[in-house]
Amino acid sequence: MRISPAEAITRLKKGEVVALPTETVYGLAASIKCLEAVEEIFELKKRPLNNPLIVHLASVAQLSEFVLSLPPGFTTLSQHFWPGPLTMILPIELSKISSKICAGLSTAAFRIPCHSATLHIIEEVGPLVMPSANVSGSPSSTKAEHVENDFGVLFPVVDGGSCIQGVESTIIHYSESKWHIARLGAIPAEELASNLGYEPKSFKSSSAPICPGQLYRHYAPKAKLHLCDRHENCCNVVIGFSNRTYPHASRLFFLGKDSSAEEAAEALYNVLRQLDLEGIKEAWVDMDFPKEYLWITIAERLCKAALH
Ligand code: TXA
Ligand code: MG
Repeated sequence: MRISPAEAITRLKKGEVVALPTETVYGLAASIKCLEAVEEIFELKKRPLNNPLIVHLASVAQLSEFVLSLPPGFTTLSQHFWPGPLTMILPIELSKISSKICAGLSTAAFRIPCHSATLHIIEEVGPLVMPSANVSGSPSSTKAEHVENDFGVLFPVVDGGSCIQGVESTIIHYSESKWHIARLGAIPAEELASNLGYEPKSFKSSSAPICPGQLYRHYAPKAKLHLCDRHENCCNVVIGFSNRTYPHASRLFFLGKDSSAEEAAEALYNVLRQLDLEGIKEAWVDMDFPKEYLWITIAERLCKAALH
C-alpha cells in the first residue's frame, strides 16, 4: 500500500514499521526509540537477532549523541560521501543505542542516505533503523512493488520509484590504523582510495566477517544461478548484456550494456526477482566483465546469489 511521506512520519512516530526508499535499496524503517517496532522488523524479515541494523541519520550532528570517538579519516569521509551510500561502523556509548539494534556489539553502523523524502522523514522522526526491505536471504528491494511482493500489498511503503544505485551501501570499519571494507557496496574501493590515500581492503572470505550479516545466505532468488566466465557459454535462460549476442539463449534478461557497471547494479535485484516471478528454475549469468570498480560488488552479489 503506497503511503505519503507525511503518513510515514505519523506512523513512525506511533511506533509502526514502514518501508522507505533510499538511493541504494528500499529499507524497513522504525524509530530507534521504538523497540517494539525494531523487534517487529526482525520478525518481518525473519532476521537472526545477532545480525545488527544500520542507524540512518539526517545529519552528522546527530552522531554526537551516540558515538564515543571518531576514527582518523572520519571527517573527510563523511564530508565527501554523506549523504550517500557509505556506512561507517563506529564505537558507541552503549546506553544510547539499544543492544537489540547493535546485536550486543560495542559498535553501531551509521549512514546518511541520499534521498530527499527519506531525509525529511528522518529529520522529523529522528534516527531510524533501516535494514533492506526484503525477507532475509532474498534479493533486496529496489522498487515499491518488490517490498509488496515480500510483505504483502497492504504493507505501507513510500514509493520513491526505482533506487538509483540498486545495491546496498559500502560498509567500512576502522582497525589497526586503517579503514577496511566490511561489506562491498555502491561505493567502490577505488573511490574510497582516492579519498583515503590508500585502498581499503576487504576481509578475506576465510576469516570471520566483521559484518555478522555476511555469515548468512544473501541476495538469492529461488532460481539456481550458473555463473559463466565466458559469455559464449551462456545458454537457455541468460542474464546478460543488451549489446552482446547469446546464440544458445532461449530467454534473455538484461543488466543493461556491458560498458556500464552502474546500469548493471541498478538492474540487478529486479532481474533476480523477475526470475522467481516467472517461475524460472535455472538461469545462466554472463560474468564476463572486468573485476574492478563497481563490477566487484556486482560479482560478489551474484556469487552469493548463486550459493544454495
Ligand atoms: O544500503 C544500505 O545499507 C541499506 C539501506 C536500506 O540503507 N541497508 C542495509 O541494511 O543494507 P541491512 O540490514 O540489509 O544490512 C546491514 C549490514 C548487515 O550485514 C549487518 O551485519 C551489518 O550491516 N552491521 C550493522 N551493524 C553492524 C555493526 N555494528 N558491526 C558490524 N556490522 C554491522
Ligand atoms: Mg540486507
